[in-house]
Amino acid sequence: MCGIVGITSNKQVTTSIINSLRKLEYRGYDSAGVATINEGHLNEVKCEGRVDVLEKNLSKSNLKGTIGIGHVRWATHGIPNSVNAHPHSSESVSVVHNGIIENSTLLKKLLIKKGHKFKSQTDTEVIVHLITEYLKKNDLKKSILKVLKKLHGSFALGIIFKDQPDLIVGARRGSPLAVGYGPNENYLGSDSYALKSMTNKISYLNDGEFCILKKDNVEFFDKKGKKVNKKVLEVSLDGQNYDKGDYKHFMAKEVEEQPTTIKNCVNEYIDKVNSDINIFNFPWKGNEISSIMLIGCGTAYHSCLMAKYWFEQLTTLNVNVDIASEFRYRNNRFKKDTLYIFVSQSGETADTFAALDLCNKNKMKTCSVVNVVESSIARESKFVLPIHCGPEIGVASTKAFLGQMLVLYILCLKISKMRKDIDKKKYLEKIKSLFSLSKLTKQTLETDNKVQSVCSSFAEIKGSMFLGRGYSYPIALEGALKLKELAYVHAEGYPAGEMKHGPLALIEEGMPVVVLAPRDEYYKKTISNMQEVIARGAKVLLITNKSKDEVYSENIWEKIEVENTSEDLLPFLITIPLQKLAYYSALKRGYDIDKPRNLAKSVTVE
Ligand code: AGP
Repeated sequence: MCGIVGITSNKQVTTSIINSLRKLEYRGYDSAGVATINEGHLNEVKCEGRVDVLEKNLSKSNLKGTIGIGHVRWATHGIPNSVNAHPHSSESVSVVHNGIIENSTLLKKLLIKKGHKFKSQTDTEVIVHLITEYLKKNDLKKSILKVLKKLHGSFALGIIFKDQPDLIVGARRGSPLAVGYGPNENYLGSDSYALKSMTNKISYLNDGEFCILKKDNVEFFDKKGKKVNKKVLEVSLDGQNYDKGDYKHFMAKEVEEQPTTIKNCVNEYIDKVNSDINIFNFPWKGNEISSIMLIGCGTAYHSCLMAKYWFEQLTTLNVNVDIASEFRYRNNRFKKDTLYIFVSQSGETADTFAALDLCNKNKMKTCSVVNVVESSIARESKFVLPIHCGPEIGVASTKAFLGQMLVLYILCLKISKMRKDIDKKKYLEKIKSLFSLSKLTKQTLETDNKVQSVCSSFAEIKGSMFLGRGYSYPIALEGALKLKELAYVHAEGYPAGEMKHGPLALIEEGMPVVVLAPRDEYYKKTISNMQEVIARGAKVLLITNKSKDEVYSENIWEKIEVENTSEDLLPFLITIPLQKLAYYSALKRGYDIDKPRNLAKSVTVE
């Protein structure tokens, strides 16, 4: 996703803007730029490619100024190049934008008729000319209000003005925007992470709001231009100097961190002394909830699918799951005794946020499971369950996936106990088993060598299928997604029992198929499905768990055995070889593992 930074100060800002843009690189981008105002001139430097390239260009241009805006762009309208890079500027106004202006084509036509000349293919550039047009007859605030009313779609904006070189305007609709407070300077950023190296004092704009930022004062306004007061939050600075350590990639580090993040999460939520769950101030009683709707995107959606199995096993609730981008446009039957649970690592995913907003507008019970507690989704949910994983920088979600599953499992146990759907003995057993999960994850990570040897064959493949039954099916989907987004290989997660209804036709001699068959109630059926694909020439990589019983291994290509544990917790362990499989396949292919092509860490556009 795009990233925005703005700084107004009593000292030079270019270096600080570059440093903040680097904090936003994790979002995924393809071009970058900076604009400043200096001695009555508005200057910009932009580039295709990474912030390193921008920094090189800046060293030649010697861009000066005590006020400026910066941007890393993830292309939505217009190919990635330096012309389409932000900021976009007229002679007197410069804009950086995250989001999509849905009526940009119409606005562009109207502005061209008024004589405005466009340089780029972007939707953003219409904002520059629209503001320039309104400023001819209106003061700054009125012009901003008129422009925001004209724009359809989503935006987070940073705007500077040659004729008012002491202020930055920020505006938010649908894409997050934060304000940071410093000594004799103030900041604008897409998220607090971009600003943490300069301050931990943060305010967030709500949808429809805009702000006027000066180095010694910030004013906030609602969509009618009425002043609003903002709380100044002290955000935690943990992780602000997050780096790869000895690892080659953030993803590698984050996969290996999982035993620690699981331990931290268990410690946060489980009372070891009383073998009970520490979720306090849960706003609803057990009898106020009769159904659950779990909503997310991508990997977060897979954790929702996983939770459905646990809720169905451990409670008497009706449980549904939906992809956020589908849910938000459905003709939903909202019920007041449904608990809507939104899962999002970043807490900024536009579709998930829109689905939450829809539920809030219908006065529903909303709860979110997030990794960023200051995020928009967290702030707009009635109840928030952090996953305590620390910053996840790799675009491919790994430790956050296990964290999401863990928190959903713990929430499921909590609700089951509240509703008396689970007996005390079983409840205590399940609580106790959580204490071993971190160690089991660590032991399972040690399957590394086996996975690496398998990957040499995997790295050349053109396509693959991941098969699983029951709760192994969401894990099959997740394994396929990891291989797609990291090794750019077409991979499909499929219910093992569904193969004979069509996809079996895809199986050809030598095609690699990953079969998830832990020794659970589905084991025998899945092994039969596995034999069906082997009989048609598939090369099967079997992922199962250690057991005293011999595993079926006739004609399978390779087998990886994870540690043994309860059925509830096997999904955590069988995920790990799949994360590594994708990682090593991408490594072998020489791809950019932390920032895969076309992808972004936080998808803040529809
Ligand atoms: C997962 O590896 C992907 N990067 C992507 O599917 C991600 O899970 C999805 O975009 C949702 O992001 P969120 O958890 O921040 O909402």
